[in-house]
Parts: sequence; structure tokens; C-alpha cells
Amino acid sequence: MNDFILTKEYKRFVEFCNTCKKEKYIGLCHGHAGVGKSMSAVYYANWHKVEAQLIAASAYDQGFHRYNPIIDMKPYNTIIYTPEVINSAKLIVNDIKQLIHHFSRLKERSIYGEFIPPEREVRLKKYVELLIIDEAERLQSKSLEQIRDIYDRQNYEYDGLNQIAVIFIGMPGIEKRLIRFPQLYSRIGFTHTFNPLSSEEISFIIEQHLKTLGIAFKENNFMDHEATAAVARITNGNFRLINRLLKQAIRIIEVNQLSFISKEVINSARECLVIGNS
Ligand SMILES: Nc1ncnc2c1ncn2[C@@H]1O[C@H](COP(=O)(O)OP(=O)(O)OP(=O)(O)O)[C@@H](O)[C@H]1O
Ligand SMILES: [Mg+2]
Repeated sequence: MNDFILTKEYKRFVEFCNTCKKEKYIGLCHGHAGVGKSMSAVYYANWHKVEAQLIAASAYDQGFHRYNPIIDMKPYNTIIYTPEVINSAKLIVNDIKQLIHHFSRLKERSIYGEFIPPEREVRLKKYVELLIIDEAERLQSKSLEQIRDIYDRQNYEYDGLNQIAVIFIGMPGIEKRLIRFPQLYSRIGFTHTFNPLSSEEISFIIEQHLKTLGIAFKENNFMDHEATAAVARITNGNFRLINRLLKQAIRIIEVNQLSFISKEVINSARECLVIGNS
């Protein structure tokens, strides 16, 4: 995640997550394939680090509960769950409960070390403040109901002390699907549309890619400006496509020993790629 770029969309996403967390709402985030939804969630939750610890703890030969996380888990409070393509409501609920439990155990270890005070069970549930469910369109109606149930229980069972917010991430259209579940829909406090990148951000990304070749990018240079416009036109600001297109463009620049980028380079790169509409 070292090359993660803090885009405007990411900053809006952070605000959205923080608000859901603060208000303990269910939130809905949607955007086209490849705009950067999953990567933003992973970066926000520091999930690349946390998940590595969960995996290490599961594989620990002396048992999950004896594993000491090698990172400080104290600042973290968000978990990400991605349902399998083929799933069942029962499996999903078990997975989510287990994830909350495992995350909490590791965080507890970070806070207390080996000497965990006895009134643990109540505390455990406070460690997770936000549950993000990625690829939410994979959820069947029963699973959606079950997740609403987890949300309600977490919110009311312990006198409001152990509240957890939930964010569903999906493709455009998911909001229309959720309207069919009035009980769940009425609990959605915020929705967030994940937009494609602006042309300023595309310029910035081109600049980062060119830096790897030691080539300077100047927005006021006409050729560079044209290249940005070509990338924007071909990709519609879609992060996944931009990265793929630019990798190919860099290869063309290297092979031809060029010292600049141009719309012709971008167009040749485009011809080498299969690019869909999204
Ligand atoms: N902030 C970012 N910084 C750098 N690269 C990014 C960023 N966001 C997205 N990307 C790039 O775009 C690709 C697609 O991002 P991501 O998988 O998050 O999209 P998505 O919106 O979740 O797509 P899908 O709907 O298909 O799951 C990533 O693999 C990465 O290469
Ligand atoms: Mg995704």
C-alpha cells in the first residue's frame, strides 16, 4: 500500500466513514468497477496490516489466543468483510462474528499484553467500531436481514455502550436493490457515491508514473496536457484502467527510449489493452 494516492475521493470516503462511525449508522457506498472503493476501504482500516495479523494468529502453532500481534492494534477499530461469491446467510453471520471476535482478541492483547483483566467479555465488543462489507451485491436477501440483526443487537443489547456502524460497498444500483428491504433501508443514514478521478488527479498520477523513468511532467506543456486528456477520455477517470494504461505507456516509452509522454504514446498503449466501458 506504499503507492496509495490520497485522492479527493479517498478524503471524501474518510469523512463518510468517520461520520457513520460517529453516528453509528448504516452507510452505503457505491461506485463503478475500478474507481478505488476496495483499496480506499483497505487503506482506511489499515486492513493490509490487520489482516496479516489475523492470518498469522490463525496459523500460530500455540493457538490463536496466545498470539501476540507484532503491530500495535490499539489505534485500529475497523474490520472489512468480503463475502465469497457463493455464500449462505449462516456462513456470513458466522464469519462476521468470528472476525469481530478475532479482531477484538488481538486488540485486547495489544492493550493488556498477557495479563487480561477478567471482565473481558463486555469489553471485547467495544473494540470494533465499524464493519465494512465489500462486494455487498453478493449478499442474498437473508444475509442482508442477518446483518441488520447483527447491527441491531450490537446497538441495543449492551445499553448503547457497544455500538458498531456498518458500511456496505457495492456497484451502482445496489441502493435500488436495498430499497426492497425496508427494515434495512430505513437504517441507512448516509450514502456516498465514489466518483472517478478528475483530470488534475490524472495528471498527478501520470506524473508519479513518469517519475519512475526520471521524466518530468509539466501540466503547462501542451503534449503533457494532451496526454492527460487522452487518458481521461479512454479511462473515464477509472483508477484501475488508468494504472493499466499507464503501465503500458511506460513500457512503450522505455522500449522506444523516449523522453516524453504524448497522446500518441497513450493511444498506442490503449491499442495493446482490452478496455471495457467501465
Ligand atoms: N488511492 C489509490 N492509489 C493508488 N492506486 C489506486 C487507488 N485506488 C485504486 N487504485 C488502483 O485501482 C485499482 C482498482 O481499485 P479497487 O480494487 O479499489 O476498485 P473497486 O472500486 O473496488 O473496483 P471493483 O468494483 O471492481 O471491486 C487498484 O488495484 C489500484 O491499482
Ligand atoms: Mg472492489
